[in-house]
Amino acid sequence: TSSTNTLIRAELVSFARNPGEGDKPSPGSLEHYGDGLLWLQGQHIHAVGHFSELAPSLPEGSEVLDYRGKLIMPGFIDTHVHYVQLDVMASYGRQLLDWLNDYTFPEECRFANHAHAEALSNAFLDEMLRAGTTTAQVFGSSHPGSMDAFFSACNKRQLRMLAGKVLMDRNAPEGLLDAASGIADTERLIEDWHNSQRLGYSVTPRFAPTSTKTQMDAAGALLRNDPTLWLQTHLAENSCELDWVAELFPGNQDYLSVYEKAGLVGPRSTFAHGIHLDNGMRTRLAERGANIAFCPSSNLFLGSGLFDRYAAQETGMAFSYASDIGAGTDLSGFDTLKSAYQVGQLSGQPLTAWQGFYGLTHGNAKTLALDSHIGQLAPSFEADFVVIDSNATPLLTRRIQRCSTLGERLFALMILADDRAIYETWAAGKCQHQRDQS
Ligand code: GUN
Ligand code: ZN
Repeated sequence: TSSTNTLIRAELVSFARNPGEGDKPSPGSLEHYGDGLLWLQGQHIHAVGHFSELAPSLPEGSEVLDYRGKLIMPGFIDTHVHYVQLDVMASYGRQLLDWLNDYTFPEECRFANHAHAEALSNAFLDEMLRAGTTTAQVFGSSHPGSMDAFFSACNKRQLRMLAGKVLMDRNAPEGLLDAASGIADTERLIEDWHNSQRLGYSVTPRFAPTSTKTQMDAAGALLRNDPTLWLQTHLAENSCELDWVAELFPGNQDYLSVYEKAGLVGPRSTFAHGIHLDNGMRTRLAERGANIAFCPSSNLFLGSGLFDRYAAQETGMAFSYASDIGAGTDLSGFDTLKSAYQVGQLSGQPLTAWQGFYGLTHGNAKTLALDSHIGQLAPSFEADFVVIDSNATPLLTRRIQRCSTLGERLFALMILADDRAIYETWAAGKCQHQRDQS
């Protein structure tokens, strides 16, 4: 079959591998074309290079879309976010457990209504694309219908998304508990949606306090039966949560061992937060190939604590960058990096722009085992990318004019940019968000 060619001339930035911790990206890690060409065929990238080098090989009579002055990067990835919490963002002043009881659980009860779930799925995807995020790992509510609505909204837009129905069978309002049906509903959702178009299913026990051991063991059995499934949950976010887990699961060595015993810790497992860990737990996570989703704006908002990035690196524990909406304060990947930088500053662990943007793209794809599909501008990768306008506001224009290197420009974007700098977002080879649409 012949697929249509789309040719885009712009500045291109992508990471072939981890740029390292240095002030300069390690040799061969950064791919940067000041005057580049991105050549799409259908939903995939066909070629990437210098405009002058690719120009002679372009198909006869092809039109080149001129995006000179704009910067294209792979679409941003968010490894931990709750679509059902869009409307509780910015709810005042509690730490985790009160925040869940006072705002979040009542809100999630609303997703028993299918029309509400459909409306919020679309509102959420609109916001993600406005922020330049093309892939996320997403929590629904415990209602299976919340996931039918979400997955079908994703497929209409041909988005690559991981998501799952929350499993929770205790310590929450009656309307959210799923003891009788949670596992069977999960199996049905896996059947209907796992590997449908670009979707993947993440088995989603909310966290140890809201699942019985029986439910977590059953979730572990699902993962053993199908190693292509993902797992997402929360781990060691808040000190009251730690005390509660110790009380609910006496006789366990630590919080992580509760998940280990249920068979939930593997190479496709993402544990959100992972703030209050010791090096023993970090090493065990590293040995299993699991990753922690670092959710800096959420951790600051709920006062949960400062994620220790250096300890992660020293123990070889993988981590990724995530918004954790609704406890996070912004869907924008720029904002997540800004918050990560601020957390790093408070810990003596400054984050370079190279690390930040590598993390948001290729790094996050790698921790989700999606790095053969997304996260780079390279041939055969899926055509998911953001077009960044560094002149989005008068202030950005002033500041960017003062930058003499790409590194300075990327850092200024990381601190100053927001969704206004997302000029367009493309996914599956199509422009799916345009900022200036009138
Ligand atoms: N731990 C268990 N559930 C949640 C949630 O919805 N948000 C956050 N931030 N932590 C949690
Ligand atoms: Zn979360």
